[in-house]
Amino acid sequence: MLNMVASIDGAVAIDGVSGGLSSEPDKTMFAALRAQADTILVGARTANAERYRPARRSGVRIAVVSGSLSIDPDLPLFDQSRDRPSALWPLVVTTADADSDAAARLADRAELVRTGTGSVDLLACLRHLGSLGARVVLCEGGPALNASLLAADLVDEVNVTSAPLAVGTDAPRIASAPGGGSPAPAPRAFRLEHVIAHDDVLFVRWVRSRH
Ligand SMILES: NC(=O)c1ccc[n+]([C@@H]2O[C@H](COP(=O)([O-])OP(=O)(O)OC[C@H]3O[C@@H](n4cnc5c(N)ncnc54)[C@H](OP(=O)(O)O)[C@@H]3O)[C@@H](O)[C@H]2O)c1
Repeated sequence: MLNMVASIDGAVAIDGVSGGLSSEPDKTMFAALRAQADTILVGARTANAERYRPARRSGVRIAVVSGSLSIDPDLPLFDQSRDRPSALWPLVVTTADADSDAAARLADRAELVRTGTGSVDLLACLRHLGSLGARVVLCEGGPALNASLLAADLVDEVNVTSAPLAVGTDAPRIASAPGGGSPAPAPRAFRLEHVIAHDDVLFVRWVRSRH
């Protein structure tokens, strides 16, 4: 499933990060969704921009997707790696042809998973996570990774918080393929599962209709 917060006019970031869109109700929903997941999937640019850190709940694994291994090795995400067995390290999901020097920079703090050539094969990635025991994978963005998952029809649920703000910039939407995505994927149909309004904040849960 995906979870994102967006402004009324669809922006997912203010000045390059999502913090300005969040609120106490959004943080509560963020934590509630994390509580359902055993694996958190996130794109490299989000992990870097949002300074990802280890999940608070033990047993939850964070997996960062990165073709070029542009992940900052000094992210707080990796702080606990040296004190933990490698089976509990964050995962970095990359390609078979990823740069070996960049891979070496992460080798003492992350478990590298290689799927696909040129770009990560996201279906193979999810299958691998399943083989490690994942049952509920929560993708926390960003828009580029979300777009790739939607294009591959790998999203069962979309959770969106609408923040009571209009931003008026060209910030990306919750799913935005770099360069517009080519060829354009087929639109995916979802049905409305749940709506909650609280303190001017709107939560909507959409579930994929595949028939
Ligand atoms: N409002 C919200 O809820 C929310 C949530 C998350 C993020 N955000 C915001 O979104 C922005 C970042 O999003 P973004 O769309 O720019 O980037 P992103 O989706 O976080 O990360 C994109 C990167 O992920 C890797 N990637 C994704 N799919 C891949 C594939 N199939 N194969 C190989 N690599 C793949 C690539 O990494 P490499 O370049 O390393 O190859 C790509 O450059 C930030 O401003 C962040 O604050 C907002």
